[in-house]
Amino acid sequence: MTLIDAGPTMPTGGPGLPQRRHLVTALPGPRSQEILARKAAAVPQGVGHTVPVAAVAAGGGVVVDADGNSLIDLGSGIAVTTVGSSHPKVVEAIAAQAAQFTHTCFMISPYESYIAVAEALNRLTPGDHEKKSALFNSGAEAVENAVKIARKHTGRQAVVALDHGYHGRTNLTMALTAKSMPYKSGFGPFAPEVYRVPGSYPLRDGLSGADAAARAISLIDKQVGADNLAAVVIEPIQGEGGFIVPADGFLPAVAHWCRDNGVVFIADEVQSGFARTGAMFASDLFGIVPDLITTAKGIAAGMPLAAVTGRAEIMDAAHAGGLGGTYGGNPVACAAALAALDVFENDGLVERAQQVERLLRQRLERLAAIDPRIGEVRGRGAMMAVEFVDPATAAPDAALAAAIAKAAIAEGVIVLTCGTDGNVIRFLPPLSIPDDLLHEGLDVVASALAAR
Ligand SMILES: Cc1ncc(COP(=O)(O)O)c(C=O)c1O
Repeated sequence: MTLIDAGPTMPTGGPGLPQRRHLVTALPGPRSQEILARKAAAVPQGVGHTVPVAAVAAGGGVVVDADGNSLIDLGSGIAVTTVGSSHPKVVEAIAAQAAQFTHTCFMISPYESYIAVAEALNRLTPGDHEKKSALFNSGAEAVENAVKIARKHTGRQAVVALDHGYHGRTNLTMALTAKSMPYKSGFGPFAPEVYRVPGSYPLRDGLSGADAAARAISLIDKQVGADNLAAVVIEPIQGEGGFIVPADGFLPAVAHWCRDNGVVFIADEVQSGFARTGAMFASDLFGIVPDLITTAKGIAAGMPLAAVTGRAEIMDAAHAGGLGGTYGGNPVACAAALAALDVFENDGLVERAQQVERLLRQRLERLAAIDPRIGEVRGRGAMMAVEFVDPATAAPDAALAAAIAKAAIAEGVIVLTCGTDGNVIRFLPPLSIPDDLLHEGLDVVASALAAR
């Protein structure tokens, strides 16, 4: 059975797709409607979707749907297609590996590409100490394994996460995640020995980094006790929680306290990793060297792959056979990762993310200067956001963020919301997007804001 019958006009994805916003129907068009009706019948409502179209191709800075509509992509499938969807080097690597072998299970018959990915991660992640990496399938699985490793290394059980943190949807990572709806509500009980403290949210708490760290550390000391604490898990720039950039000094102070107290500092860079923030890792921006770092999303340009990388002596705490999984480090995903890592390192993607930041920041700050409903423009690299507030009270305005996102999507621009209060619009374009499309996407968002 053909899954999508788009006939001979089915576009080939990748950077060769025409780079333009072009709507030939209202969204969703008739073909997308048909497919989405099948989705509603066959897939539970718990698996939601943001953009009401069925994708058939993507590349550069666009996503093309089953009706031939071409949408500007300011979301990268939630920060995944950083090198661009169907990047030619990645496609070639996937095809070559798929023709060789698709699976042996690394725990049964190991293969070189997994080891090469681990070597690359050990080299690229912050710090020049001896490191090791283990590969998994998803960001949540990486975070789970980082916690397992930290517990085994320290012999302690407690784990601390931050307000506004997001770490995934498995049982332990739901416990680590702050926001109840839609991630946790009704899905408990959650894993025990997880504690939450406030982090640093300059717009809301007005604290310096040092003061925010002192507040967090004091709460940890009082409510958990360093002797019981295996790990602190922190996103250096919080993603789903609202693209919150901590005040200078917050992360180094917490990392320092962890080091002094034998607590494993885990940086969750699942969203912020791999050039996304204008550095290879967001930890680099803040001058911190995490003990363990979790990665996924951008690592393999959309193939399911995730990793835990860290100090060799911590990574080796788990006994032989204690880590793994049937698919972790699948050879096709590893081939994609090696190609993507080559692009990150050698095709100037860190610099491209810095350029994207300049463009986004300039446009968004110009908007903020004339519209008091924008409480803050923040982020780094191609991970930027605006937080919408009620100008009179500074209260979060989720309805405005939702209305703007909906209007932009209807006009063919994919934007995502985030934030514990749902009042943030985030911009996560693929780094392959041309500048004129970025400008056009922002024009549409600006018009949506002006119309409200
Ligand atoms: C910081 C962070 N950690 C973990 C996850 C979970 O990753 P996955 O959805 O691949 O399980 C995400 C996903 O958005 C994330 O942003």
